[in-house]
Amino acid sequence: MEAFAIRGGQPLSGETQVYGAKNAVLPVLAATVMVEDTCVIEGVPDLEDVRVMLAILEALGARVERSGETVQVDARYLHSTQVPPELMRRMRSSVFLMGPLLARFGEVSVSKPGGCVIGQRPIDFHLRGMRALGAAVEEKHGYIRCTANRLYGTHLTLDFPSVGATENLIMAAVLADGVTVIENAAREPEITDLADFLNRCGARVEGAGEDQVRVTGVHHLHGAVHRVIPDRIVAGTMMIAAAATRGRLVLRGACPEHLGALVNKLREMGVRVEISRDIINLESPGCLRAVDVRTAPYPGFPTDLQAPMMALLTTAQGTSVVRERVFEARFKHVNELARMGADITVDWQTAVVRGVPRLTGAVVEATDLRGGAALVIAGLMAEGNTRVEGLHHIDRGYQQIDVYLRDLGADIVRL
Ligand code: UD1
Repeated sequence: MEAFAIRGGQPLSGETQVYGAKNAVLPVLAATVMVEDTCVIEGVPDLEDVRVMLAILEALGARVERSGETVQVDARYLHSTQVPPELMRRMRSSVFLMGPLLARFGEVSVSKPGGCVIGQRPIDFHLRGMRALGAAVEEKHGYIRCTANRLYGTHLTLDFPSVGATENLIMAAVLADGVTVIENAAREPEITDLADFLNRCGARVEGAGEDQVRVTGVHHLHGAVHRVIPDRIVAGTMMIAAAATRGRLVLRGACPEHLGALVNKLREMGVRVEISRDIINLESPGCLRAVDVRTAPYPGFPTDLQAPMMALLTTAQGTSVVRERVFEARFKHVNELARMGADITVDWQTAVVRGVPRLTGAVVEATDLRGGAALVIAGLMAEGNTRVEGLHHIDRGYQQIDVYLRDLGADIVRL
């Protein structure tokens, strides 16, 4: 089993470049199955989740070619509308294929995605939306099958601005008859990116990035070239890691306007953050102030940065209160941080973090992607040696995080 060996205490220092966003590229790749033509997607990160998505596209019959960070997908001759269960199990985001396959072929079958350590993660909004668009949805023996002769534009209101449901329903509506309006839609930049890609292919999606999205159905999509947006969560993780080690960082190729909530919090803590176009300059003083953090749908503080932020807060001066408002069980990293000397108490969806002078190295285990990143950051901050296990979680969303951190002076080795 792979692990990271980290010798902490070294401030990060240097420059790094942000790569394309996992959460943008996954729905974009799923959307290519609606296009009876070749699509070229640029800025595709080399991540386990992306490899699984490409394997699914191939299993459905698409021709996929990858050359560095460019992926070409030709989905003209698909021969299946069933997402292979063994691949579905390896990645929750395969649920994104539901909307596009249903839109193009009038049928799709996927195995039910399971819950995971950060919460139950139901897909009831997705299914309710598919039904409202005119699909028959059958759930049996762990499988979900959706069928429809045609999909018809409709008015949908989400109970919560779910990112995945907004994306899946936009994709389902793109080839439907008439106009679909999605109210209380999520506003994350990855949704705008998906809409930009679809519009390049000839779709008519308006209002992405706002809470009301309007999709006017078209008959056909054509091929397009699209570059995915930079990964704001990777950018945020690197910024937090630099602040946590009291280091300095120049981040290139980022989209600072996607990072507003984090930048505000870091500044509130006393970190110096300067922004000029796509470059973020960050410098951390030795002593940082505690702050309260409350996760929320975009443009609020991203739930995906809650765990990394908590690692940073463990050694801030004072007491921080972290409220997780998006997922109901996203504090699995707390016990591991406690092994390293962090002083954190959790009550349901609230964590109280009392700053300690320093963390100390320990053996810890990642049980989810962003919680794993938090443990790496804690290892970089800690006195002595840390071993982080469960790397497959971290590799799902960070491209060679050890190499990127080593370039910034970290003492981290993959064992
Ligand atoms: C996406 C991101 C994930 C991020 C999350 C919130 C991708 C691939 N993943 O996940 O990194 O943490 O947004 O920013 O883009 N919910 C329901 N029913 C549904 C759908 C969602 O109850 O049908 C609930 C979820 O359980 C959760 C909340 O809504 O409590 C938000 O989930 P959602 O925005 O859908 O997250 P994902 O799209 O799964």
